[in-house]
Amino acid sequence: MKEQSSNQQKITQLHELKAQSLRGGGLERVEAQHGRGRMTARERLDMLLDRGSFRELDAFVQHRTHDFGLENQRYLGDSVVTGWGTINSRLVYVFSQDFTVFGGSLGEAHAEKICKIMDMAIKNGAPLIGLNDSGGARIQEGVISLGGYADIFLRNTQASGVIPQISAIMGPCAGGAVYSPALTDFIFMVRNSSYMFVTGPDVVKAVTREDVSFEDLGGADVHAEVSGVCHVASDTEAETLYLIRKLLTYLPQNNMEDPPEQENSDDPFRMAEELNNLAPDDSSKPYDMKDIIKLIVDQGEFFEIHAGYAANIVVGFARLGGHAVGVIANQPAVLAGVLDIHSSEKAARFIRFCDAFNIPIVSFVDVPGFLPGTVQEHGGIIRAGAKLLFAYCEATVPKLTVITRKAYGGAYDVMSSKHIRGDLNLAWPSAEIAVMGPEGAVKIIFRKELAQAEDPEKRKAELVQEYREKFANPYIAASRGFIDDVIEPRETRPRLINGLEMLANKRDANPPKKHGCIPL
Ligand code: HXC
Repeated sequence: MKEQSSNQQKITQLHELKAQSLRGGGLERVEAQHGRGRMTARERLDMLLDRGSFRELDAFVQHRTHDFGLENQRYLGDSVVTGWGTINSRLVYVFSQDFTVFGGSLGEAHAEKICKIMDMAIKNGAPLIGLNDSGGARIQEGVISLGGYADIFLRNTQASGVIPQISAIMGPCAGGAVYSPALTDFIFMVRNSSYMFVTGPDVVKAVTREDVSFEDLGGADVHAEVSGVCHVASDTEAETLYLIRKLLTYLPQNNMEDPPEQENSDDPFRMAEELNNLAPDDSSKPYDMKDIIKLIVDQGEFFEIHAGYAANIVVGFARLGGHAVGVIANQPAVLAGVLDIHSSEKAARFIRFCDAFNIPIVSFVDVPGFLPGTVQEHGGIIRAGAKLLFAYCEATVPKLTVITRKAYGGAYDVMSSKHIRGDLNLAWPSAEIAVMGPEGAVKIIFRKELAQAEDPEKRKAELVQEYREKFANPYIAASRGFIDDVIEPRETRPRLINGLEMLANKRDANPPKKHGCIPL
């Protein structure tokens, strides 16, 4: 057989090294990973990115540790796969931790690879997606690993508001390792497969004597419904990766761009006739605000964020006439749509993301006020409500507001009112805009009269009716110009699309400052 030329030998060596790098921690560990019901780092990237678009960086990087026998265990690429590719033909930077190599643990080389990709994402203005599956700091590398994490945290913070950062938790994520995902914009988790906690069940048991499982301590449902750390929980890795692709369709590449327009086959002039009858006449009756949103937005498609957390407010992305918008809506079907600590923080965070990335904000308002009680007051509802107020006040993107029913008290001011730079404030005829609801108002202002009335209940009903007729409507606010127009519910879609187009070149800014001091 003919001998290989020296060039050919070098190319063969290159292919061998690349093949070695592709093997990760070896067949046995790959099988173990599959046995856990999880994909490998590379399989995940294949599913996340457009076919054939992945370009890998640093496949030859190895750790430089000589302790605890690590000098005899080196893997090309170490325990993370990094690079770039496209999603729907748009550039993204990615890292995917490889659990088959040292449990995906993060040492110096691993951190350097992630930092390199983060620097490129920031410099070139494209989203960063991290697929996390790691045993945390590489124990054998000690404080060097901690330094590596801190290098990543710094970059997460610098990238914040510059490029969208998305984290998917695909396996364990423990200790300080949770703080890189926590610094990103959206966290996706997989039920029964991924978990996040600062200290695991063993430490919890030792310190607090609580017996708790991995899933109950830091599983997807716990973080999606109780802590609010997770924004989107799914049943499978495949679904998680699909949803990340979908989320990106609403987002610009960076803070200097507008979100992408999409061709829209849904008639921008479409009237939603059902809306005229959807909100119940009786103002104490609940209805599902998501039904209303879906009737208004393009194709009824609503990408909800934080669906399981603080469900008394609804936030998510949608399109109106092909334009991406962030929707914030009180949810009368849950706790009457009241604002409380969690819902205020949930909405404030979402508003700030939209504002940072030039995504117009559409608010649907039906809010009876802030939730009363010692739990809320002592828990800091004042500070939490102020966060929401701050976020709305600070936002300079187009802000469109539709009051569907109640807008009472401070919550009226907070929910993107005209006074805090709402650009287009519309109300349905069913809107009730006043300091408080009729029942509460009558009890306070007619306390003495009611105490002396012959038939207090009858008199109260009369006064409530009188108050309702006088104040529980949109026309007093409209007479002041606090509401720009009162519209038929069915016209909401065309009016919002028209408003968005009218505001397409909006210019507004806050005074020059290093940064505001949002009441965190
Ligand atoms: C080095 C690690 C590792 C780590 C796992 N491995 N974690 N190697 N450093 N942190 C290795 C294991 O030795 C094993 O190697 C392989 O990864 C798979 O691990 P298993 O334990 O066999 O897998 P499994 O049973 O699925 O358990 C996964 C696990 C567990 C729950 C993640 O490995 C674990 O508890 N690891 C330690 C977690 C931890 O305490 N990390 C430090 C957190 S503190 P072999 O060769 O057998 O395949 C922290 C500080 C960060 O992260 C601070 C930042 C500010």
